[in-house]
Amino acid sequence: MKLLFELSKEHNTLPKDEALSCLKAEEVVYNIVVSNENVLVIDSDTTYDKIERLAERLSFTFFIDELLFSCSTSLDEIKKCTKSNIIDREGSIAINYKNRSNSVDSQPIVRALAETYTKDNPVNLDNPDIEMRVLITDTNVYVGLKIVEVKRSLFEKRKVQHRPFFSPISLHPKLARTLVNLSSIKKNEKLLDPFCGTGGILIEAGLIGAKIIGSDIEEKMIEGCKKTLDFYKIEDYELFCSDIGEINNYISDVDAIVTDLPYGKSTTTKGENINGLYDRAFENIAKVLKKDGIAVVGLSNKNMIPIGERYFSLLKKYECRVHRSLTRYFEVYRK
Ligand SMILES: C[S@@+](CC[C@H](N)C(=O)[O-])C[C@H]1O[C@@H](n2cnc3c(N)ncnc32)[C@H](O)[C@@H]1O
Repeated sequence: MKLLFELSKEHNTLPKDEALSCLKAEEVVYNIVVSNENVLVIDSDTTYDKIERLAERLSFTFFIDELLFSCSTSLDEIKKCTKSNIIDREGSIAINYKNRSNSVDSQPIVRALAETYTKDNPVNLDNPDIEMRVLITDTNVYVGLKIVEVKRSLFEKRKVQHRPFFSPISLHPKLARTLVNLSSIKKNEKLLDPFCGTGGILIEAGLIGAKIIGSDIEEKMIEGCKKTLDFYKIEDYELFCSDIGEINNYISDVDAIVTDLPYGKSTTTKGENINGLYDRAFENIAKVLKKDGIAVVGLSNKNMIPIGERYFSLLKKYECRVHRSLTRYFEVYRK
């Protein structure tokens, strides 16, 4: 079966890399058929349970569909494809489309699809048995049957202002979840955030079933983080107060590290020079991460990337505008 991941396009490469990292974490065997900013299409014989699990994990994907066909935006081609790609299921249908192009008119495309696909399947827009999803880009049309929707509104509900402990340093939950996914952490594996602050990254890792470990130099952050994890009924966690230089006295051999280092402005560095702190941070996370383990690290400045390379191999880098005046750099390193 061909699976179509409708990517959110909130970043040019993160959504695709998040999806690929989740496929790895969930041990899905696949071949990539199409990969671009809009979609990832894979060929895979995976199970429905695994597809649901992927949707539970992902944050920068809207839907996972079964691909019916994809072709150019030419109406003749679309009509030809509808004839050779019938739906062999009975039941009512809704055709929902998203047009990501300013130059392609969606209406003739949707009409062409409706002509074929509503012939044997009655239309039911509110509660259809089959939801057809149509994604229109400047050059292509992707037509799929929805398998599962990613419940993205849940990320909005977990924004820091809705949690019991508030501090403006926390990343948006969607971004925190993507970072966790980039580590390909599996259920029951140990994930550490040694600059855990309010716990934004730990919540997202805990909710997908990782055993989470958090530490921070500020006692008040650890207390606040505990309240927040309890609020979300996350049980499998360990928290301790520690300077980054001491974490190896508490833990060893964690499976992955996901963390957002202090910015040097709004968050405390306790007067320490930011370059010195970053060097100590990488040195110490290298000590407690298992061999070949992945560290996903947020940096305030791209000039800091080579500091990490003193201790790790750099696999990927992403530049993200967190809000109008703040750009963060997220790197994936391997020990
Ligand atoms: C950018 S914030 C982390 C935000 C976090 N991801 C969240 O969701 O709230 C960085 C954190 O690093 C902590 N920190 C600063 N210097 C530290 C050090 N030397 N050792 C450990 N933690 C430190 C700060 O107290 C702060 O909570």
